[in-house]
Amino acid sequence: MAGSKETQEIRRGKCACSTSRKRLVSKYLSVVFLVLAVVMLAYELSTVRIDRISCPPPYDRGVPRQELRMPSGQANRAERPAESVDLPTIYVITPTYRRPVQIPELTRLGQTLMHVPRLHWIVAEDTNNTNRQVLELLDHLGMPYTYLTTPMPSKYRKKAGSKPKGVANRNGGLDWVRQHATSGVIYFADDDNTYDIRVFEEMRYTKRVSMFPVGLVTNKGLSTPVVRNGKFVSFYDGWISKRIFPVDMAGFAINVDFLLKRPDARMPFVPGYEEDGMLRSLNITMDEVEFVAKNCTKVYAWHTRTGPSHGAARTILDAKYNNTNLQTIRENVYLNKK
Ligand code: UGA
Ligand code: MN
Repeated sequence: MAGSKETQEIRRGKCACSTSRKRLVSKYLSVVFLVLAVVMLAYELSTVRIDRISCPPPYDRGVPRQELRMPSGQANRAERPAESVDLPTIYVITPTYRRPVQIPELTRLGQTLMHVPRLHWIVAEDTNNTNRQVLELLDHLGMPYTYLTTPMPSKYRKKAGSKPKGVANRNGGLDWVRQHATSGVIYFADDDNTYDIRVFEEMRYTKRVSMFPVGLVTNKGLSTPVVRNGKFVSFYDGWISKRIFPVDMAGFAINVDFLLKRPDARMPFVPGYEEDGMLRSLNITMDEVEFVAKNCTKVYAWHTRTGPSHGAARTILDAKYNNTNLQTIRENVYLNKK
């Protein structure tokens, strides 16, 4: 007992002489901890990734457990096409950004993709902040999806002239595929285009890179490889320039395994040369390309554009609409800045 009392005293004595130093150290440690926590939180927020898997394995292969959640859009499951495990998965990467027509565009595209079996929709948004309206739509659709926030680097955003639209988004999607997929096909589907669901069955068995016609591109109204007797002849496109591969973003698909073997392949931040740069980085020649859509005779994808539209006017914020339907609607629409 005496010994322990002594020890206690010694300890107390020690404490007494170094209390202020200890306090200083612990203060210092808590500041360091706080700074670390803030940095980690900022990092997490800057790379938001949300995966929702509504179908049984093997969809969930490689997806972190805590991110697996059944979408609330269960009602739509019955309407989803039968899932056959034998089909290669199509990873559709869609760049998007906040604007008045965003949700209508994604609704139209999503309700096209819902008809395609074994499709995983990667929606990559040009933003730093998770977009609740997009997530609600994705949950409602009830299909397997991944939502990424992939902002355009500010050096490109600040630059005058044309911007590399959707490039950070598509590269973010490619990174996700590299981390989570081992087989299947990748397709870049802009949110404003129009797709016949037959295009997905044409690309599903792509071995390396497949190409197919896209309608409504440039003043020629069409972009496609020119094929004679099944052999590549040239490209038909309104803007050839210095491009080796003058094709539209919606006009090709890439095999996942083929991509995985080319770890440096990605899309360059060069406006107008995104497709060409991506295909060049895959180190492919035209005699390795597969010409699908019935030997490039069918147009199953169109480069449609939506005209500018007004978002909701801020008059719906007027207090006289409190406790009316407008109070709810204003939470769920694109509200004009002023
Ligand atoms: C054309 C091509 O089809 C695109 O693939 C290409 O990225 C673009 O030109 C380009 O070279 O800049 P276009 O119809 O002119 O497309 O462009 P948008 O449809 O306005 O944008 C392409 C995609 O990027 C869309 O899915 C859009 O939602 C997204 N985007 C656009 C962003 O993520 N951020 C933006 O600031 C603008
Ligand atoms: Mn477009």
